[in-house]
Amino acid sequence: MAFSRRLFAKALVGAGSIPLAGMALDAMRGAGDDAPSAGDRSASAAGRADVTSDSPGEPRNQPAATPDRTYSLDARRAGEGGTPLDSTTQYLYNRRYPAPELRVPAGDTIQVAVENDLPKGTGTTVHWHGVPVPNEMDGVPGVTQDPIPSGESMTYAYEASPPGTYMYHSHVAQQMDRSLFGPLVVEEEEPRLDYDREVVVFVDDYLAATPPTEENPDIPLYDGIVVNGRLPDDPQEVGVTAGERVRFRFINGASAGVFDLRLAGHTLTVTHADGRPVDPVQVDSLRFGSAERYDAVVEFDNPGAWELAATPVNAGDLGDPERGRLVVDYEQSSASPQSPRGSPTRLDRSMLRAVERYGHVRGSPDREYGLTLSPGDDGAWLMGGQRYPDADPLSVSPGDHVRVTMRNESEMYHPMHLHGHFFKVGHAVRDTALVAPGQQVTFDVYADNPGEWFFHCHNQYHLASGMARVVSYDRQA
Ligand code: C2O
Ligand code: CU
Repeated sequence: MAFSRRLFAKALVGAGSIPLAGMALDAMRGAGDDAPSAGDRSASAAGRADVTSDSPGEPRNQPAATPDRTYSLDARRAGEGGTPLDSTTQYLYNRRYPAPELRVPAGDTIQVAVENDLPKGTGTTVHWHGVPVPNEMDGVPGVTQDPIPSGESMTYAYEASPPGTYMYHSHVAQQMDRSLFGPLVVEEEEPRLDYDREVVVFVDDYLAATPPTEENPDIPLYDGIVVNGRLPDDPQEVGVTAGERVRFRFINGASAGVFDLRLAGHTLTVTHADGRPVDPVQVDSLRFGSAERYDAVVEFDNPGAWELAATPVNAGDLGDPERGRLVVDYEQSSASPQSPRGSPTRLDRSMLRAVERYGHVRGSPDREYGLTLSPGDDGAWLMGGQRYPDADPLSVSPGDHVRVTMRNESEMYHPMHLHGHFFKVGHAVRDTALVAPGQQVTFDVYADNPGEWFFHCHNQYHLASGMARVVSYDRQA
């Protein structure tokens, strides 16, 4: 494209509500094109609330005074059990890898007491990835709170809403790559899908060693791709019955891995992206980056033993770890599992159509930001040519319709996550958007949750190397 990266960054970053000069922007509008709102149609039929809020000046998800559900998480160094998954370089919540699932009905107030029993001098926080919590509950050190010092604790509380598949994780340094993470499920009152039971599938790039932590750390060499805490040579077996319908909640808990997920012998009916319901779409495989989630229903109609494979797309960057596995076994089958074969139909962003209404982003935006995603000097990773923390905040006002265009000028994937909000990307509504090498992605977001919100690449090494900004609400409404 015929415009310079610097010009692009300069002209758009901080442009406020100034309409953009004709510059290649039209050409830049890709997946995010503001096509007539897809969400509108099924929303009223289903009698669903708007996923955006009606009072943009008020913080979202304020907790009730008395919590409905309380949990406690104790962060501490792993033991010396002698298994590869019990390395002393790991940090665990409640001694579990991944950490226990937190599950709560939508609308309930969840309260989580977090105790920091990590080694002396190691602070920590917990971030509730995807949930539009009030800002002070968001768990971002240096942005929304000071880290909880070792030996101390902090209680987080917020209304668990809207329903969906989420995750929680530490937001300090590379603690997520030391395994401080787990699934968070907010249950619908009445699931609109028909299924017999659920299986949560948590995928991670497993690192037995201490993650690199210098200023611009490189992605480390991983020891394997782990599915539900099991290395590929010792996969979890899930027994199924012919005729059964299972709702899978796939969570990418990896710090750097981008995976193609595929279940041999079966079709995935994708029903949710990042927890938000979509019109069901049938595919053989889906690709997801760090912190993205998909729900998919599988109808088990093909007896045998089958492999669910998580194949790293960016294997070269990860040190070529073996692909992750889980085995699905029909009752009484003793066959060794079959691997996926043939060329799959892969989920594409354009196939996702949100069921819920995403309000207030019609027409032209009040603010528009364009950000290149590119490598910098000395291993830095830049957004709009700047390296966080030496980077300008993106300012917004409550009630603004903000449009953000990201252009990936690198050869790596960047799963870009905005805290505290869902956004509309194409016809989908989500909180994380995977931007492929050379690709450009536009999202529209309604500024309905005042505060200071992190916006960054979820690859923990790109984040540590500067690929982040703060979205900052100004005071006047
Ligand atoms: Cu899971 Cu700042 O992110
Ligand atoms: Cu990145």
